[in-house]
Amino acid sequence: MTEKKEARPSIKKVFKTIFRFYGTTKEYFYKYGIYRWFGGVASGGLQVFNAYLAGRMVGIAISGDMSALVRYAVILIGAVIVRTIVGLMNEYASSYYNIHSGKKLRVMAMEKINSLPIAYYENQHSGETISKLASDIEKLQVFYGNSIAGIWSWVPASFVFSLAILLNTNVQLTLICGTIIPVFAIIMNKISLPIGKASKERQEHAASFNSYLRDFAEGVHIYKSFSMSKSHGQKFEKACDDYAEASFRMARRRSLSIGLMIFGMVIPQVIALGVGSIFVIEGKITFPELFVFTNVLWPFVSTFRMVSGGWSDLIEESGRAEHLFTLFDAKPERTNGKDFTDIETNTVMEFRNVGFGYNDNVKVLESANFVVEKGKKTALVGVSGSGKTTIHKMLAGHYDNYSGCVNVMGHELSEWNLESLRNNIAAVNQDIYLFNESVMENIRYGKPTCSDEEVMEAAKKAYAHDFINELENGYDTKLGERGISLSGGQRQRIAVARALLKDSPIILLDEPTSALDTRSEYHVQKAIEKLEEGRTVFIIAHRLSTIENADKIIVLDGGNVLGTGSHSELIAENDKYISLYKRQVLESSGGIA
Ligand SMILES: Nc1ncnc2c1ncn2[C@@H]1O[C@H](COP(=O)(O)OP(=O)(O)OP(=O)(O)O)[C@@H](O)[C@H]1O
Ligand SMILES: [Mg+2]
Repeated sequence: MTEKKEARPSIKKVFKTIFRFYGTTKEYFYKYGIYRWFGGVASGGLQVFNAYLAGRMVGIAISGDMSALVRYAVILIGAVIVRTIVGLMNEYASSYYNIHSGKKLRVMAMEKINSLPIAYYENQHSGETISKLASDIEKLQVFYGNSIAGIWSWVPASFVFSLAILLNTNVQLTLICGTIIPVFAIIMNKISLPIGKASKERQEHAASFNSYLRDFAEGVHIYKSFSMSKSHGQKFEKACDDYAEASFRMARRRSLSIGLMIFGMVIPQVIALGVGSIFVIEGKITFPELFVFTNVLWPFVSTFRMVSGGWSDLIEESGRAEHLFTLFDAKPERTNGKDFTDIETNTVMEFRNVGFGYNDNVKVLESANFVVEKGKKTALVGVSGSGKTTIHKMLAGHYDNYSGCVNVMGHELSEWNLESLRNNIAAVNQDIYLFNESVMENIRYGKPTCSDEEVMEAAKKAYAHDFINELENGYDTKLGERGISLSGGQRQRIAVARALLKDSPIILLDEPTSALDTRSEYHVQKAIEKLEEGRTVFIIAHRLSTIENADKIIVLDGGNVLGTGSHSELIAENDKYISLYKRQVLESSGGIA
C-alpha cells in the first residue's frame, strides 16, 4: 500500500516541492526566472518560426521565385543567429541560478547541521548527511536551474505558436494528428511514474554506500587490526550491487519510456504525411502547405515529449528535494535562554530526581540525585552502560527530555542559553576528534580568537609542546583525518591544551586515561592536573586508582545514585563501590579476562 503511494507522488506534492525549492532560493530565482521566462518564450517562438520559414522556402523554391527565396534565406539566417544568441543567454541565466542556488543550499544545509542537537546525529549515519550535502544539492541545482526551466518557459511558447500555425494551415489535419498525441502522453505518464520509486531506492542505496565509505575511512585501523577489510569490502560491494540494480531498474524504465517517446513522436509525422498526401490529391491542402505543416508539427510534438519526459524527471528530483528538505525540517536546538554571569553559588551542578531515557522504552536514569561542589573534584563511577557519559552529555545541555531538575551554577538547565552554558564547560573525552588542519589550529579550537603564543603556552602546560616540536613541521604539521598520525596519549594532551585555552570554570573528564599505557598515562595525568587547578572537576573514571584522591565519589547503578562519599568512606560501607573496587583489583591482577 505504502509502496504504491511512494510510486505515485501526488501532483500537489510535486508542485509543492517545486515551489518550495524556488521559494528557498527566491532572491536568485526572481531575477533569473523573469529573464529565463522571456528567453524561453523567445527561444520557443523562434524555433517554430524557423521551422515555418524552412517549410515556406521549399514552397517558394518550387514556384521558382528567386528574389523571394533570397529574402526568406536572409530572414532564416537572421532568425537562426538570434535564436543562438538567446540560447546562449538562457544558458548563462541558468548557470547564474545554478551556481547561486547551489551555494545558498550548501550554506543553509551547513547552518542547519550546526543548529541540530546531538541526538539528531546519534540517530543518523554521517554518510547520509554528506550525501545530501555533496551530490544531492549538485543534482538539484542543475535540474531546477536547467532541465525543468524549459517546461515553464520554452514549452508553452512553442506549443502556442506551433498550434496556431498548424490550425492556420489546416484545421482538419491538425485535429487528426493532435488527438493521437495525448493518448501517448497518458501511456508515457503511466510508464514513467515508477521511476520516482526507483530513484528513491537508488538514493537510499547511494546513502548506504556513502556510509560504508565513511565507516571505512574513519575506522580503517579497526578494520585492519581485526582483519575485517575483506568482510567490509563484501558489504560495500553488496551496497554497490544494490545501487547498480536500482540504477538498472531505473534505466530499463527510462529506455522503455524513451523508445515509446520516439515512436510517439514519429507516428503523428507518418499520419500527417499519409493523410496530408491524400488531402493534396483531394485539393484540400497545397504541397508547400503540407511541407510547412510537417515541419511545424515536429516542435509541436516535441512539447509533449518535453512535458512527459520532464514529468518523470520531476518525480525523480522531487524525491531528491524532499530528501534534502527532511534535513532542513529537522528540529534545531533551542537558542533561547539567558547568559548567566552571576555564578556565586557553591553548588556548581545538581541532579534532583532526574529520570532520562534515549527512547521511551528504556530508562537510563530512574531518579538520580547528586551535587557537585565548587572547586572540588567529584568523580562518577559505575559499571559500563550505567549512564555516566549520559550524565555528562545532559550537563552540557544536549538533551531536554528528562524529568526532575538539572541545575547548573544555580540555574535550571532550561533557563540557560545553551551556548553560554557550554562556554562554562570544557570537556575532555576518550574519543578525541582532531581536525584535518595544523596542530596550531586544532588547539586553537579551544579559543578561536587566541594568538599563536597563547596556543603554545597552553600546549606547554598540557605537556604537549615538546612532542609537537618534534613533529615534521612543528605546530604547522597537518594532522590527518582523526589525527591518525598522533598517539592516543598525544591526542589526549592536544585535547587538554584545547580545554586549557577554553579556560572554563567547569571541567568534564570522561575516562581520559583509561585507554593509555602507563607512560602515556603519566604525561596525560600531569597535563590534567594542570587543567584541574582552581576549577570544578567532574570526572568519570573506570580506574578507581585515578580518583582515590577525589573530594567526593558518586556511585551510579541501575539509574540511581547508590551512595556518595570519599574513597575511604565508600570502601568502608558501600557494597556497590566495594564490588567495583574488588572487580578492578582482580582485573589488574589478571583475575578477570
Ligand atoms: N545515543 C544513544 N541512543 C540510545 N541509547 C544510548 C545512546 N547513548 C547511550 N545509550 C545507552 O544508554 C546507556 C548508558 O550509556 P552511557 O554511554 O551513558 O554509559 P556509560 O556509563 O558511560 O558506559 P561506559 O562506562 O561503557 O562508557 C547504555 O545502555 C547505552 O547503550
Ligand atoms: Mg561512557
